[in-house]
Amino acid sequence: MKNNSFILKEFLDNAFNLKSHLMEFFSMKECDLDGFLANAKMNLANSHPGDSLNNVSDFYTEIVGDRHVADLAAWHIASKDYIADTLKLQQSFSRNLVLDFGGGIGTHALANAMSAKVEHVFFVDINETNRNFVEYRAKELGVEKKLTFCKTIKDTQISKFDTIICLDVLEHLTDPASQLEIFNEFMDFNSIALFNWYFYKGEKNEYPFHIDDLQIVEKFFKTLQSMFLEVFHPILITTRAYKKIR
Ligand SMILES: C[S@@+](CC[C@H](N)C(=O)[O-])C[C@H]1O[C@@H](n2cnc3c(N)ncnc32)[C@H](O)[C@@H]1O
Repeated sequence: MKNNSFILKEFLDNAFNLKSHLMEFFSMKECDLDGFLANAKMNLANSHPGDSLNNVSDFYTEIVGDRHVADLAAWHIASKDYIADTLKLQQSFSRNLVLDFGGGIGTHALANAMSAKVEHVFFVDINETNRNFVEYRAKELGVEKKLTFCKTIKDTQISKFDTIICLDVLEHLTDPASQLEIFNEFMDFNSIALFNWYFYKGEKNEYPFHIDDLQIVEKFFKTLQSMFLEVFHPILITTRAYKKIR
C-alpha cells in the first residue's frame, strides 16, 4: 500500500501511467496518441444524436465506444491539478467498502484501491470499454485484487457501502434524483457520499449529453436536501460530502 502523498505524486507525474495504458490497451502508436486526445472532446460531442435519442443510457452503451475513454483521458491530463484535488478529497473520506459509480477511466477507483484505509473498490460503469480499460489498468498497477468491475450497483452484490464516489456522473442520468434515492438505500448512517454535478450543456453545446431540464434539476435538489446532510470539508468547493439523514 502507498501513502496519500505518494499516490497524489504518482497521479500528478503521469496520471497513473495513463498514456502508456492507452497505447497498450488500444494498440496505438505514440505518434497517434496526441490526435486521439486532442480531438476527444469534439468527437464525443459530435457522436451525440441529439433529440432523436430515445434512451439516455443507449448513448453510453451503444454509441460512445472508446470516445468517452479518450475524452476523460484528455481531461484528466489537461486538468490534473483539479483531478488531484478530487483525489485529495476522497483520501480524507474513503474507507472500507467503496463504490465508484460511473468510474470512467478509473483514476478515482485506482487511487482508492492503492489506499490502506480501503478494503475493496466496486467500479460500476455502464460502458463496457471503460470497464475493460480500467480492469486492464488495475492489473498493470498491481491493484486488481482490490477491485471488482460491474455494470450496475446490483451486480456488486453488496448491500451497504462505507463510501460512495459519484463524480461528474449525475448530469449524465435521465433522472439524477432517483439515483440519489438508490445511493441512499446502499448507505448506512456512517457512510459518506461524494457528489458533484454540472447540469449544463455548455455555451456552445459542448456537452449535449448533460441533463439541464429545470424540473429534473429541481427534483434532484429537493431529493438531495430531503435525504442528505452536507459534511463540511475545506478541500474542493465543487464537490460535496454527504451523510444520509433518513
Ligand atoms: C463524465 S464521466 C465521469 C467519469 C469519472 N467519474 C471521472 O470523474 O472522471 C461519466 C461516466 O458515467 C458513466 N455512466 C453514464 N451513465 C451511467 C449509468 N447509468 N450507470 C453507470 N455509469 C454510467 C459513463 O460511462 C462515464 O464513464
